[in-house]
Amino acid sequence: MKITVIGTGYVGLVTGTCLSEVGNDVICFDTDSAKIAALKEGVIPIWEPGLEDMVHRNAKAGRLHFTDDIEVATRFGTIQFIAVGTPPGEDGGADLQYVLKAASNIGRHMTDYKVVVDKSTVPVGTADKVRATIAAELAARGIDTPFSVVSNPEFLKEGAAIEDFMRPGRIVLGADDEQAALNMRALYAPFQRHHDRLVLMDIRSAELTKYAANAMLATRISFMNELANLAEKLGADIEHVRKGIGSDPRIGYDFLYAGAGYGGSCFPKDVKALIKTAALDGGMDMQVLAAVESANQQQKHVLANKVKARFGADLTGRHFAIWGLAFKANTDDMREASSLTVIQDLLAAGATVTAYDPVATAHAQQMLQGKGGISYANSPLEALEHADALLIVTEWKEFRSPDFDSIKASLKSPVIFDGRNLYDPKWVRGMGFEYLAIGR
Ligand code: UDX
Repeated sequence: MKITVIGTGYVGLVTGTCLSEVGNDVICFDTDSAKIAALKEGVIPIWEPGLEDMVHRNAKAGRLHFTDDIEVATRFGTIQFIAVGTPPGEDGGADLQYVLKAASNIGRHMTDYKVVVDKSTVPVGTADKVRATIAAELAARGIDTPFSVVSNPEFLKEGAAIEDFMRPGRIVLGADDEQAALNMRALYAPFQRHHDRLVLMDIRSAELTKYAANAMLATRISFMNELANLAEKLGADIEHVRKGIGSDPRIGYDFLYAGAGYGGSCFPKDVKALIKTAALDGGMDMQVLAAVESANQQQKHVLANKVKARFGADLTGRHFAIWGLAFKANTDDMREASSLTVIQDLLAAGATVTAYDPVATAHAQQMLQGKGGISYANSPLEALEHADALLIVTEWKEFRSPDFDSIKASLKSPVIFDGRNLYDPKWVRGMGFEYLAIGR
């Protein structure tokens, strides 16, 4: 099939590349000409396991193309994916300007039947706006070319994006007409393993499904974080509690890890956007989600608060090592990362920090530009030099079984604040460390 993907961010680039991998002819568009030029050279703007090889392979095979020419892009695909950003607007709702701009470009240039696919995370009702925008452009051109609009939210996780796309647990599709559903079913046929993964529904339900999934997961995390804070006060261990409740199949083990708060490009943004949509379009106050959001804001400060409780509110002259900057392991993404809050809190209290991350350092440097008191190390051990304590913020594999003797020898005092509960407290304390984790 001929496919156009508008937007080469995380979702767009992964979608386009994986669709070319199964033999489709794909063109990826972006307004950022420098990014397109780089992609044509094989330079991938994001760090995602397996993506680079797949881009190179399919570009070489002539199935994957990149362009910054919107006319070329919108004329090309029978299926037009809109995978542009929906950043939070000033009021916390999703800003749809890029989505609607893509829709109007499709309407302006299309010459034959198109299935327009909303892949971006968009509020309920956006498909109607996309449809109206395209129809208005066609009317302005005085033509009546048929098109369909469908909603096909993406559930991929950063760090596992290729695997998630190639072997999806489910493919949610909101479609109001038979022709579009047929096209989409054919498109996803190569990704159906053993049984049909397509969950077909009306468009509004599909749009809400995306927010519902992320809001549910964020709720689990905030709930566990709150429970962890309580466990600490009561002398219980949240890790035991997690295993105890996770063994109930109605609860399950996944997404029950207490930590330093959730970050990333989806949960914080989508929770806020759903609260906004509910208020604006539903006249409803989402009480549970409001609590999820505010509990998460507080949780991001927990690690730095523990440091202050241990070393004093005034941290002048203190120096700390930070292991992990990315919002989670296996990504270089720093969006809404808890490390940003931790670092800002420590700096504001007068401390200095040295941070190490296997891949996110460059992005962190950009985001923390102009802030004094922070330096970056090239290895975990280098970060520890002259530090009063170690703070672990991201659960990178390489932090899971470190050389504790070297850590002890490097730190001024053997204190570890673990925002990811990576170690058995008994084990670490047995080696002479003061170990302050989350909820235990
Ligand atoms: C998420 C959804 O999982 C994905 O389906 C959707 O398409 C996009 O948003 P992602 O943002 O890549 O994916 O990261 P995810 O692995 O879900 O983690 C989100 C945040 O929650 C991270 O900061 C992570 O550290 C935190 N988290 C996750 C916890 O604190 N505890 C957990 O148990 C799980």
